Amino acid sequence: MKKNLFSLRDLTNEEILEILEEARRFKRGKEYPIKNKVVCNLFFEPSTRTQYSFNMAEEKLDMKVINFNAQSSSLNKGESFYDTIKTFESFGIDLFVIRHSKTRYYDELKNISIPIINAGDGMGDHPTQSLLDLFTIYEEYGHFDGLKIAIVGDIKHSRVAHTNIEVMTRLGMECYTSGPKEYEEACYKHIPIDDAIKNMDIIMLLRIQNERLGSSEHLQISNSEYLEKYGLTMDKVNKMKDSAIIMHPAPFNRGVEIADDVVECSKSRIFKQMTNGVYVRMSVVKRSLGLWLL
Ligand code: CP
Repeated sequence: MKKNLFSLRDLTNEEILEILEEARRFKRGKEYPIKNKVVCNLFFEPSTRTQYSFNMAEEKLDMKVINFNAQSSSLNKGESFYDTIKTFESFGIDLFVIRHSKTRYYDELKNISIPIINAGDGMGDHPTQSLLDLFTIYEEYGHFDGLKIAIVGDIKHSRVAHTNIEVMTRLGMECYTSGPKEYEEACYKHIPIDDAIKNMDIIMLLRIQNERLGSSEHLQISNSEYLEKYGLTMDKVNKMKDSAIIMHPAPFNRGVEIADDVVECSKSRIFKQMTNGVYVRMSVVKRSLGLWLL
């Protein structure tokens, strides 16, 4: 059966673990050509990692790929989001991958009969980012139960934080947040940054989501002050547990939430997350096309 993927809240823990298991098989070299299917990637909001790792995943699956270019499209002549998607549906596309700045954009697409993978919706969800984060954590530790993670930075405007805290808690992890109080959410457990550094298994950094801030939400603080107060420097890295790791969904801002020399330090798994994103997306594409367990 063809399946949408809008939010990980729609999946059971077992389904999530199955997706990760298939991603692991892809990483180990499993081949699964899907030559006769056409996927259309529609990114109405900027992206490097998500868009092009979906491209890479689809190419590795031998699919035919159309990349929609919003800038040169008839959106500029007033065509609506819904009519754009409906147009591609009429072409006979088999799968959509969609990113849009509107939270829950997919509520508008209930009439669309083709499966949709959500590549990020406003401040809502980023399910494939969370899946690749989970994959990276599982690869490191071999389990989720009891692992402690602090997500540090702009929690309020981050779809990655919202998706991760829900699913990681459900899988038995202890989740905390830290960073500027203006960007924290009262519903999550706060941890002071110094306690997080000493006690966590995973420090996940987030950039300030400037593109989503209201006019009064910008912090009156320099980049170097931000780094000193809330960011991760090598001084802080040296206080982390030996086994602890650093993650970041990226894009990252060197010298703001992460010091230049931390990006590729031995504890950083940031580029490994990007590598794993390709395999997780292969798994998700296969599932959404109804080819699960084939
Ligand atoms: N992590 C992430 O979603 O990056 P992009 O915005 O570059 O896709």
